Amino acid sequence: MTAEEFRKHAHRLVDWMAGYMENIENYPVKSPVKPGEIFDKLPDNPPFHPESFDSLMKDLEEIIMPGITHWQSPNFFAYFPANTSPPSILAEMIIATLGAQCMIWETSPAATELEEKMMIWLRDLIGLPASFEGVIQDTASTATLAAILTAREKVTGFRVNEEGAQSAGNLRIYCTTQTHSSVEKAVKISGIGRKNIVRIPVKDDFSMDAGKLREAVEADIDNGFLPCCVIATLCTTGTTAVDPLKAIGEICAGNNIWLHVDAAMGGTALILPEFQWMLDGREYIDSFVFNPHKWMFTNFDCSAYFVREPDQLIKTFEVLPEYLKTRTRGKVNDYRDWGIPLGRRFRALKLWSVIRMYGVEGLQGKIRYHIKLAARFAEILSEESDFEILAPVVINVVCFRYKPEGIPENKLNGFNETLNHRLNDSGKIYLTHTVINGIYTLRMVAGQTNVRIGHVEKAWELIKITARSL
Ligand SMILES: Cc1ncc(COP(=O)(O)O)c(C=O)c1O
Repeated sequence: MTAEEFRKHAHRLVDWMAGYMENIENYPVKSPVKPGEIFDKLPDNPPFHPESFDSLMKDLEEIIMPGITHWQSPNFFAYFPANTSPPSILAEMIIATLGAQCMIWETSPAATELEEKMMIWLRDLIGLPASFEGVIQDTASTATLAAILTAREKVTGFRVNEEGAQSAGNLRIYCTTQTHSSVEKAVKISGIGRKNIVRIPVKDDFSMDAGKLREAVEADIDNGFLPCCVIATLCTTGTTAVDPLKAIGEICAGNNIWLHVDAAMGGTALILPEFQWMLDGREYIDSFVFNPHKWMFTNFDCSAYFVREPDQLIKTFEVLPEYLKTRTRGKVNDYRDWGIPLGRRFRALKLWSVIRMYGVEGLQGKIRYHIKLAARFAEILSEESDFEILAPVVINVVCFRYKPEGIPENKLNGFNETLNHRLNDSGKIYLTHTVINGIYTLRMVAGQTNVRIGHVEKAWELIKITARSL
C-alpha cells in the first residue's frame, strides 16, 4: 500500500469511525449472534492473493459488525464500562502510526518520560501521596499479580525468586468474599496456592470487616502461617463497596503485611474531592491500581499502577540479558523492569490526550454527572413498591431487583434472571447481574462516556414494562 493509497483509505475509515459514533444507538447493544455464527462465515484458509481494502470493509460490515457488542453505546449499562472517547481514539491512531515498542528508555525516551509525567498527574489527581511512583500496566489483573509477586518476595526476603515456591513457607493472602476474581487468579499464578486465600467476611454494606481481618491474621500467625498481603478494594465489582483502608492499614502495618489496593473502577471517582474519603488511610498503602480504561475515557487497555517503593517492584521483576544493556541504565526508568511483559505499547499518549482535551474540570464534570444519573435511577426505583434496591449506591452503580407482591421468594431469582435476559435480548439496553447473599441482582451502571438522563429514563421505562409483563 502506498502512502497515497493509505491516505485515501484512512480518510474513508475516519468517516466510518465518525459515522459509527453518530449511529451507535441504532445497533443492538448486545450482539444477538449465536456461538459459531461469525466463525462459520469466515473462510477456512487465508487468501493467497492480496485483497482490497474495499473487500475488507465489506466483510467488516457484513460479518464482523453483527458480532460486536457495543460497549460505547449509551445504552450499555452492563459490567463496569470500558469507555473510550474521541481524544483517546485520536491518540490510538498516533500510537498505531508510530508503532513504537517502549520497553526501555532508549527505545523511545518520549514514551518513558511522558509515562512518568502522566503517572505524576494521575497520582496527584487521585490524591495518592507524593512519594508514590507509577507505571502503566495492561490491566488491573496484571497489576494485582505484580503486587502479589512483590509482596511474596518482600515477605520471603526475595527467596522465592531464587529458590522456588517450596522455600516460601505458608504464605497467606487476605481479601473478602466480594473481591474481584483477578486476585484468585494472581494467587494461583504466584505459587502461593488458592487454599491460602483467606476470605474475610463483610459487613452489611459489603465492605471488609476489619475486626475479622485482625482475628484471621492473629489466628494464622498462631498457626504458623506467614501473612503476606491484604487486598482492599475501593468499589467492588458486585456492589461498589469500599473497604476501610485505615483500619485495614493499621493491621497490615502492625504485622508487616503488604497492602494492595484494587481501585480498578473506584479510582476514577477519586478525582472528585468529595470521594477522597475512600483514601483515608492512604499512608498505609504499598501498591494501588486503577483503570483509566474503565471509567476515565481512555481506550482499553490502560491501567495505572502505583507503588510506594519502586525498588521492591523492580527487584522482583528485573533480569538483565546482554542485549538489553544500555549506557543509560540506572540513570533513567526502564519500565520493562516494572512488570511482566518486556514489550510495551505507548499508552501514556492516550492519557495525555484525554487529560489535556477534557481538562481536569471536564473529567470531573462527566464523572459527577454519571454519579448523578445513578442517584436518579435509584430515586426512581425507591418510589416503586415492586422494585427493591439491594446495596448502598456509592458511585454510579445501582443493584436492584424486581419484587412484585405475590411472587414467593424462591421464585424471585428465576424471575429476575428472565427479566435480565428479556431486556438484553431486546437489543435496546444491556445490563449484567451479580448474586448478593443468594439473591439474583441486576446492576445498572451509568458510566458510558455519552450516557445522558434520557437514556437512563428510557432504560427505566423498558425495565418497568418488561418486568410488569413477565
Ligand atoms: C474491582 C476490579 N478489579 C479488577 C478488575 C479486573 O480488571 P482488568 O480487566 O483491568 O484486569 C475488575 C474488572 O471489572 C474489577 O471490577
